[in-house]
Amino acid sequence: MVIGVPKEIKNNENRVALTPAGVTELRKHGHTVYVQVNAGEGSGFEDEEYIAAGAVMLPTIEEVYGIAEMIMKVKEPIAPEYDLIKENQLLFTYFHFASSEELTQAMLAKGAVCLAYETVERPDRSLPLLVPMSEVAGRMAIQEGAKYLEKPMKGRGILLGGVPGVKPANVLILGGGIVGTQAAKMAAGLGAHVTIMDVSLPRLRYLSDIMPPNVQTMMSNEYNIREMIKVCDLIVGAVLIPGAKAPHLITREMLKQMRPGTVLVDVAVDQGGCIETCHPTTHENPTYVIDGVVHYCVANMPGAVPYTSTVALTNATLPYAIQLANKGWQQACRDNADLKLGLNVVEGKVVYKGVAEAFGLPLTDVSSVLITEEELTH
Ligand SMILES: NC(=O)c1ccc[n+]([C@@H]2O[C@H](COP(=O)([O-])OP(=O)(O)OC[C@H]3O[C@@H](n4cnc5c(N)ncnc54)[C@H](O)[C@@H]3O)[C@@H](O)[C@H]2O)c1
Repeated sequence: MVIGVPKEIKNNENRVALTPAGVTELRKHGHTVYVQVNAGEGSGFEDEEYIAAGAVMLPTIEEVYGIAEMIMKVKEPIAPEYDLIKENQLLFTYFHFASSEELTQAMLAKGAVCLAYETVERPDRSLPLLVPMSEVAGRMAIQEGAKYLEKPMKGRGILLGGVPGVKPANVLILGGGIVGTQAAKMAAGLGAHVTIMDVSLPRLRYLSDIMPPNVQTMMSNEYNIREMIKVCDLIVGAVLIPGAKAPHLITREMLKQMRPGTVLVDVAVDQGGCIETCHPTTHENPTYVIDGVVHYCVANMPGAVPYTSTVALTNATLPYAIQLANKGWQQACRDNADLKLGLNVVEGKVVYKGVAEAFGLPLTDVSSVLITEEELTH
């Protein structure tokens, strides 16, 4: 298959969909990979590394879209890219269709095959192409939290790990899923005293078994949260209720119970945030202060560490990309139920329930688009 990797053009997006290591793997399977000049620059990959791995570099985005059967990207196509997309072209990237009718209509009109990273799903309902970004954000939450706890950053002026003779900081993590677990590991590693709260007892049991002794678990409820926020220095919001807005576990009124300089890192901001006073911020201007409490609510945290994020993302996407390239999207989706769930918009039809529901569009059964014309004529 002919695969194209354009440079991301969305503002501040430094990731790239394929590393030179990924090019080598696809080449080993006999595929041709075209990469746009400078596509890897933001993540620290030089054109020479891609060439050495066997890629062919193309100077313009138009050429990449023009030649490729499968486009591998990171972010959803934006308006200047719409007209570059060809009918039946396979696009393998994050789409988040339900948040943009314009994008949905554009892809329907183009007749492209849109396989969305975010809806590729395992039988255990985990989302293998979202997990890596949650891992990055969870680990980063502590790094950022530690930074904003410093006095010049308006924090309490406390070192997470303390020093001999001085007690460490108290870290509260709301939600013990992927983000929460990674955050807890990092905070514990730095020597903080960590509490993870979740509503799932099995999850708390598991965390209690695997975490080091400076991590304790607690049931997430209003009483416990009110008790803990009075004594915590850093609070990480890492709650997720799939398909729903995050619940406001910390309300505006609760901020008054916190000590000035407490830092809130609401990673769940992309789902509305689990802290009432949270609103999305950017890497350029990541924090604001309300009632003396520092809020860090960057909606695309992994964007600040594009090298790590790119490698983490491509580690997860590559095995699927190889299947798509080896078999073609129809056969690959028939053979692999995870991939089949990634199909959102196919050749002018919406095949994913959540997207159809979001915009009141007709839903086509995904199985019907997996039959090839050849099979129909037999
Ligand atoms: N800001 C960013 O850059 C960024 C990056 C990655 C992920 N995220 C977001 O981080 C959030 C967490 O993602 P995840 O992958 O860890 O999800 P996850 O599903 O792995 O974990 C969520 C956890 O929240 C728990 N939970 C649900 N209700 C709760 C409550 N009332 N109190 C305490 N815990 C509760 C669940 O039991 C689950 O264990 C999501 O909103 C995700 O979109 C943000």
